[in-house]
Amino acid sequence: MSIVAKRVLVTGGAGFLGSHLCERLVAQGDDVLCVDNYFTGRKDNVAHLLGEAHFEALRHDITHPLFVEVDEIYNLACPASPIHYQFDPVQTTKTSVIGAINMLGLAKRLKAKIFQASTSEVYGDPSLHPQPEGYRGNVNPIGPRACYDEGKRCAETLFFDYFRQHNLKIRVARVVSNFIVQALKGAPLTLYGDGSQTRAFCFVDDLIEAVLRLMAAPDHATGPLNLGNPQETSVAELAELVIALTGSRSPITRRPLPVDDPAQRCPDITEATALLAWQPTTPLTDGLTRTIAYFDRLLGNRIGGTASTVAVAA
Ligand SMILES: NC(=O)c1ccc[n+]([C@@H]2O[C@H](COP(=O)([O-])OP(=O)(O)OC[C@H]3O[C@@H](n4cnc5c(N)ncnc54)[C@H](O)[C@@H]3O)[C@@H](O)[C@H]2O)c1
Repeated sequence: MSIVAKRVLVTGGAGFLGSHLCERLVAQGDDVLCVDNYFTGRKDNVAHLLGEAHFEALRHDITHPLFVEVDEIYNLACPASPIHYQFDPVQTTKTSVIGAINMLGLAKRLKAKIFQASTSEVYGDPSLHPQPEGYRGNVNPIGPRACYDEGKRCAETLFFDYFRQHNLKIRVARVVSNFIVQALKGAPLTLYGDGSQTRAFCFVDDLIEAVLRLMAAPDHATGPLNLGNPQETSVAELAELVIALTGSRSPITRRPLPVDDPAQRCPDITEATALLAWQPTTPLTDGLTRTIAYFDRLLGNRIGGTASTVAVAA
């Protein structure tokens, strides 16, 4: 380990992925600044890190400029599930687009390497399956999911324009995919449509490992790179599994399929495997068991807290 710790900014650091990333970065000896406006994230997610000498948290909304000195930036700030990103769609687009502009501007000034948490939602409702990175997607630009999908697409555009125009060191990952909390609360699990739509679920530790490897990869490895688990599971199967693993007596309630809900979602991770010598190693059942334990602890701390529906996200 170098004597001088690397200074790393994590936006959205109090969120689900961000807090796990902060934990890994602190553990590897980095000096971590977590920035979050706590819209969906929680101080509880990073409370255990606050006593660490190399961790600090700042309440800040990335749609406003930020002036700090760091060596690397991980841009994760953005609500990730439909319920949350559709709550204030204008703010979602602002977070993705203006947030990206602010973080890229900061990276340019500091000559810092910058990572973007993009999403497989950029593929929309795909007509190609599974989706390789070269697939350009099938997104409705005016639908209720567009604030997120198009926001993230525009953020990718900005990242690649800063790369071409300003030689910035960029990394763009398209993260693939969540449900558990309702079952833990014994609340009805909401299933949209007939539940036959598929998603691919990756355990958080596997994903963070890939994110760190991508950041450490040579600078020509800009991405976009699909990061996720290529094992496809129908949403109905997942609901049954979550109920079985939580021992919940939650009933399943059905709601109509939301507009533009993708029928299939499965990343092609061939490129990630070749580039990063990585693939997810945690089977779905193990990953779910550990994720359930995580949310159980969180909910135990604050029953009825803000982590309400974790609907099927990107
Ligand atoms: N979890 C997934 O399955 C998934 C899939 C694809 C992409 N992603 C992307 O990964 C990132 C993290 O996702 P997550 O699952 O941890 O979601 P999350 O909602 O748990 O975390 C997002 C964090 O960003 C913060 N935030 C939102 N708007 C902000 C703003 N304007 N300024 C500062 N902070 C803000 C929230 O408070 C929260 O802490 C997101 O960018 C998301 O789009 C996640």
